[in-house]
Amino acid sequence: MVPNPVAPLRADVVYMFDKFGRNIDYLRISVTDRCNLRCEYCMPETGVEDIGHENILGFEDIERVVRAAVSLGFRKFRLTGGEPLVRRGIVSLVERIAAVRGADAPVMTSNGLLLSRMAADLKAAGLRRVNISLDSLRAERYRRITRGGVLADALAGIRAAEAAGLFPIRLNVVTLRGFNDDEISDFARLTLEHPWDVRFIELMPVGEGSAGFGLAYVSGREIETVLDGFVPVPAKAGVTEVAKYRKYPGAPGRVGFISPLSGHFCGDCNKLRLTADGRLKTCLHSNREVDLRPALRAKDETPLVALLRAAVLSKEERHRINEGEAPVRRGMSRIGG
Ligand code: 5AD
Ligand code: SF4
Repeated sequence: MVPNPVAPLRADVVYMFDKFGRNIDYLRISVTDRCNLRCEYCMPETGVEDIGHENILGFEDIERVVRAAVSLGFRKFRLTGGEPLVRRGIVSLVERIAAVRGADAPVMTSNGLLLSRMAADLKAAGLRRVNISLDSLRAERYRRITRGGVLADALAGIRAAEAAGLFPIRLNVVTLRGFNDDEISDFARLTLEHPWDVRFIELMPVGEGSAGFGLAYVSGREIETVLDGFVPVPAKAGVTEVAKYRKYPGAPGRVGFISPLSGHFCGDCNKLRLTADGRLKTCLHSNREVDLRPALRAKDETPLVALLRAAVLSKEERHRINEGEAPVRRGMSRIGG
């Protein structure tokens, strides 16, 4: 495995490396497991019991985790869910994280439904940009896959994010055979008109995504064969990105491929995940979780920093889904993507 490329190291910056030489500097923070949609591959339709208010980390605790992570060299923080915008006070959490010295301005992954109301406030609070999940450009299909979502609301959210300056707009499209694989060109053509990154994501056998996975999975390579006339966009030196980008010559936007199964980007993995109930996950596809809550009860930060460091050093080398590893128990809406 080739470790992720790191820009020339700077003497005035702290870096944290794992056992496999990867520079771990990115924490995805799931702020709630609740969602205003029920995407088929992510959540069951009914009977989802939420984590419960008393078990959800408060903003104070999330900020402490961010500060501890920054002290170890983390710089990138992404807020996810469930749907992060349904967490009450989310704008103030953005503000808190944006104010942490040493942290980059935070980013978010959202389904976009509430963005038309909230984009301007999020931008003012210091959010840098937002990735928006959008699996169909057809209203009826969108309603079906999300079990009730209104496409016009998601599109209004995208426009609001753009108007608020949350650049660049990134759309995440989970490609599903027999469902939206006939929309690949329509999605890609959006990049001819808009300066957006449209990213095709391979379905992963996580939680609900494992039911029907065999039928629905479409590999990134297969998607590429549908699209022609593309030229590769070289990755920026020193930037670790799981997406590989291509574009139509002259197009303002790019088409990205996120291929966790066929692309094996574990060698470039630079992240940990924090669940809404205070557990660190060192790999999306592992059931091992590090409970931070005991350390959060301590007055000083030493145990918290120690747990974070230990988590980085225990990070798995790679997933083994292609070798038949069982799907993780925790569902995607409780991990945050
Ligand atoms: N496989 C791939 N992507 C998934 N997401 C949710 N569940 C899965 C899955 N099983 C995506 C959502 C969203 C992001 C947070 O994760 O569509 O874009
Ligand atoms: Fe909600 Fe995102 Fe899961 Fe859809 S994929 S149910 S929008 S958390």
